[in-house]
Amino acid sequence: MTDLPIHPLSSEHKMLRDAARDFAQKEIAPIAAELDESGEFPHKTMKKMGELGFMGIEIPEEYGGAGMDALAYVLALEEICKVDASHGVIMSVNNSLYCHGILKFGTEEQRRKFVTPIASGQAIGAYSLTEPQSGSDAGAIRSLATRDGDFYVLNGRKSWVTSGPVASYFVVFMMTNPEKKQKGVSAFLVEGNTPGLTRGKKEPKLGIRASATSELIFENCRIPAENRLGAEGEGFKIAMTVLDAGRIGIATQALGIAEAAYEAARQYAAQRESFGQPIGAFQGTGFKIADMKTRIEASRLLIYNAAIAKEKSKLTGDRYSLEASMAKLFASETAMYVTHQAVQIHGGMGYSKELPVERYFRDAKITEIYEGTSEIQRLVISRSELGLR
Ligand code: CAA
Repeated sequence: MTDLPIHPLSSEHKMLRDAARDFAQKEIAPIAAELDESGEFPHKTMKKMGELGFMGIEIPEEYGGAGMDALAYVLALEEICKVDASHGVIMSVNNSLYCHGILKFGTEEQRRKFVTPIASGQAIGAYSLTEPQSGSDAGAIRSLATRDGDFYVLNGRKSWVTSGPVASYFVVFMMTNPEKKQKGVSAFLVEGNTPGLTRGKKEPKLGIRASATSELIFENCRIPAENRLGAEGEGFKIAMTVLDAGRIGIATQALGIAEAAYEAARQYAAQRESFGQPIGAFQGTGFKIADMKTRIEASRLLIYNAAIAKEKSKLTGDRYSLEASMAKLFASETAMYVTHQAVQIHGGMGYSKELPVERYFRDAKITEIYEGTSEIQRLVISRSELGLR
């Protein structure tokens, strides 16, 4: 385990957390249910989040970001996700999967051109790894990037791209040398208006409905060779490194959802009476409250631990895959457990759209699936512990 300082939060951390809490309560809470119902993308609030510095929290100010650390990022994200997981995932992908990767692997020109507008919230960034036939087996990419003089020509179909319908810039992973399999994957930076790139239909989803997800279709899409991120063949490692950061974001999203569901259930258990006493006084309910609270606090510590490991990695270059996967695994399964119990404690009201509890339940499920399923997190953790590849 990473050494956890006893009081890891500085006054800057607390100020940012309070600003995010304030914004989420005032600006997002009143529209969250409506956006979930309509599936409309929250352009206005995302723009305001950009102005507040939430879209590139760890990005240095010279590239449009807030210049804060990994713990600041999870503190702010947690507050947004407590109110709305859709805003949360857009913020997470923008910060982690998009900005973090280009900052880490990009050239100075790439950072200036591709990070600055996205970290400052003027536009949205997205990450595109998955294809219809390759989800967990992320190296089984079929899309092809073929070198043609000073250009690459991109062809193929990518799927499940968070912010796909609205993003202005993408990090895209394609094969440059299929014979080499994973070692033949390369990463590219693609502008959303490049001819030959079209966006597929928006996916109809169970939860996080205000976030927009789609396919990307590349048909002879020509991009300058200078838009390659990293060396040819380095793409798989870049994708995996960036996902370690992303998984901390999704763990935080799960934590926020679980906290919201827990708070609703706690209040309901204390107020709702049955058989002459508050339902929380029955051990069947009280013990659920105890387990929910304990798992939430354990999730938080795993997430802070992973954020501190990520911060250290900026100095040492060490991987923090183990810490990130443990945080995501535990927090996402906690979110499912807590939201399930919260619906149960609310009885019929938990099933009604008049309360947000059913939304938390629907939003929680994706955290066990995207950016690596729970099975993939267990694979990463067990391989790391057993020294296996
Ligand atoms: N950091 C750096 N390097 C890494 C790494 C990491 N986290 N993980 C693996 N690598 C390196 C390995 O060291 C190895 O390098 P060498 O060959 O030089 O030794 C190479 O990558 C291959 O590693 P593996 O043999 O472990 O690869 P694998 O094929 O067994 O796959 C896996 C490992 C963990 C299963 C991986 O494929 C994986 O994480 N799959 C899940 C993919 C995923 O999370 N997809 C979600 C996409 S994003 C999304 O959900 C949509 C969205 O918009 C939010």
